[in-house]
Amino acid sequence: MADGTRTLVLGIETTCDETAAAVVERHRDGTGRIMSNVIRSQTAEHAIYGGVVPEIAARAHVELLDGIVDRAMREAQVSFAELSAVAAAAGPGLIGGVIVGLTTAKAIAMVHGTPLIAVNHLEAHALTPRLTCALAFPYCLFLASGGHTQIVAVIGVGQYVRLGTTLDDAMGEAFDKVAKMLGLPYPGGPEVERAARGGDAERFAFPRPMIGRSDANFSLSGLKTAVRNEVGRLATLEPQDIGDLCASFQAAVLDSTADRLRVGLRLFHEQFGPPRALVAAGGVAANRAIRTALQDVAAGSQITLIIPPPSLCTDNGAMIAWAGAERLAIGLTDAMDTAPRARWLLDQNARPPAKFANTRAGF
Ligand code: KG4
Ligand code: ZN
Repeated sequence: MADGTRTLVLGIETTCDETAAAVVERHRDGTGRIMSNVIRSQTAEHAIYGGVVPEIAARAHVELLDGIVDRAMREAQVSFAELSAVAAAAGPGLIGGVIVGLTTAKAIAMVHGTPLIAVNHLEAHALTPRLTCALAFPYCLFLASGGHTQIVAVIGVGQYVRLGTTLDDAMGEAFDKVAKMLGLPYPGGPEVERAARGGDAERFAFPRPMIGRSDANFSLSGLKTAVRNEVGRLATLEPQDIGDLCASFQAAVLDSTADRLRVGLRLFHEQFGPPRALVAAGGVAANRAIRTALQDVAAGSQITLIIPPPSLCTDNGAMIAWAGAERLAIGLTDAMDTAPRARWLLDQNARPPAKFANTRAGF
């Protein structure tokens, strides 16, 4: 149970198409342990539409969440009375789902007199490496998910400086769109990765966006268009074509990412001195080819690379619980009237880059 040496936090994640809840414990020395981590992906519900349908997602969260919270508590063998806090992702994300998760957390907090913590979903991705390997601040984060692609200086809990961002599509979004144009099922990222394994990465000479630029921003829509043009040129798509297109696309993403991260690390150094590690988080960090490319970048920059296991890179409840525990440890809790947020910048001072046109509304 929660005592002077450890805190116990229930975390709830409902910002997109995963309904998830988890219990983690955080020890006074800053280390943590996952006691339960229950995830119910709604992939099947959305697959026939080729993407997440917000209304369907919100309704599914309503139907699933109580049972998932119950299971997370049972698996952790923890009672509500023993919790130190209840954390929920309060944004950014699809607002219907965020409302479901935050309202559920408020109800639990109110009934059991437990503190509420409204967690920024991006902060949860950013802090996950501290759960998996007790990493100290500051570190350089590469965050690549379905809604975001950013390089962020993580200075402390609640202290984030954005060093680079995407000018158009998020990286996961680009993977998903390429999958869709190739007829691969949703969610596309893992499908593209799988198809790329049997493909020839040199068959199509796709552009390497942003390489050589002095800022650390990303751009992926031109690359996506190049893939679409190539698909148009091929009369029919044989499995080998799909594999080659995926491999060539992924290779372009890897080259661009490596270049952008080298610049991001340089900017980090200039502003904050040496980072303790290069960290990757978000669903795209589950991609093995990207993990290998990041190893090369880290080795070249003589910096430690830390990437949580794939199951903690994609959305989950443990990351929300852990971010809640980290915030609780420095005395940050939230009021019962805290509002859910469709948009919520990690770096409150970040300005949109000149050519900003993220196509994923609500993020
Ligand atoms: O972090 P996440 O689970 O949810 C968001 O917060 O968006 O990231 C989901 C995104 C999706 O776009 C998915 O296609 C992508 O991450 N993704 C991948 C892989 N696994 C998930 N992209 C490339 N390769 C993968 N193996
Ligand atoms: Zn996420």
